[in-house]
Amino acid sequence: MVQSVHNPASPLTVRDIHKSFAGIHVLNGVSFSVEPGTVTALVGSNGAGKSTLINVMAGVFPADQGEVYVNGRHVTAQAMHERVAAGFMRTFQHPRVFRSFTVARCIDFAHASAQEETLWYSLGQALGFRSRTRQRPELDMAIPALEPILAKQDAQAGDLSYGEQKLLMLAQALATDSSVLFFDELCAGLEPAMVDEVRACIRLLAQAQRTIVFVEHNLALVKSLADRVIFLHQGEIFRDGATDDVLQDDEVIKLYLGQ
Ligand SMILES: Nc1ncnc2c1ncn2[C@@H]1O[C@H](COP(=O)(O)OP(=O)(O)O)[C@@H](O)[C@H]1O
Ligand SMILES: [Mg+2]
Repeated sequence: MVQSVHNPASPLTVRDIHKSFAGIHVLNGVSFSVEPGTVTALVGSNGAGKSTLINVMAGVFPADQGEVYVNGRHVTAQAMHERVAAGFMRTFQHPRVFRSFTVARCIDFAHASAQEETLWYSLGQALGFRSRTRQRPELDMAIPALEPILAKQDAQAGDLSYGEQKLLMLAQALATDSSVLFFDELCAGLEPAMVDEVRACIRLLAQAQRTIVFVEHNLALVKSLADRVIFLHQGEIFRDGATDDVLQDDEVIKLYLGQ
């Protein structure tokens, strides 16, 4: 079993996170730390607190207690955009895009905080933009997953399908060239062919030393992508370990798979 090591120098560390809504404890002392270039799946029943954990890590709302570190920076008190500057980006469980912006403008906007040598080069090439940045061959390979929306760069984001809006969120996340990426049910509602492209894209991002934490109910996808599974149950980490160990755990099966 992989143990939760509190290591502030890792790409992402959370310590003792608590969060309540209207007096109901949704997160109750969540602590873990991830290694660079690893893919971690957050798994748990509906209402377990997965999205809340992502939102607290992202700075959508503050934790009641606990600390968040991104790339060694203590970001607990920082706003979402400051966390993006620290090297972190996320997609939302349900698409959130600027509906009246074109696809190209949405991606351009997301890029605003990006540094040189980014995936922006690749997206820029795909969109026919000029880029100041140098090529990153390993990230160019992420492009096939994004083709369905890159082909619609002049379309309004609000006119895209649900699945396309999710891919647009992925493109925006990648345009920031963040080293830590959170995907909250990114593949839910995507066509199977799109899921395959996104799976390939996530693999390539991990190979390019991006650190990925993703929420996913599709266990075949979890098995094919994740090095590690954190199983959340009623706001607490119930199991944290290698993917096969956690998904084959009798109590996890009883709580989740057998439900
Ligand atoms: N912004 C919020 N305000 C009030 N309650 C919330 C809010 N976000 C989440 N919750 C509650 O927290 C619990 C956990 O929700 P969530 O984190 O979305 O679970 P999961 O993503 O694991 O399905 C649920 O009971 C949900 O209703
Ligand atoms: Mg959720």
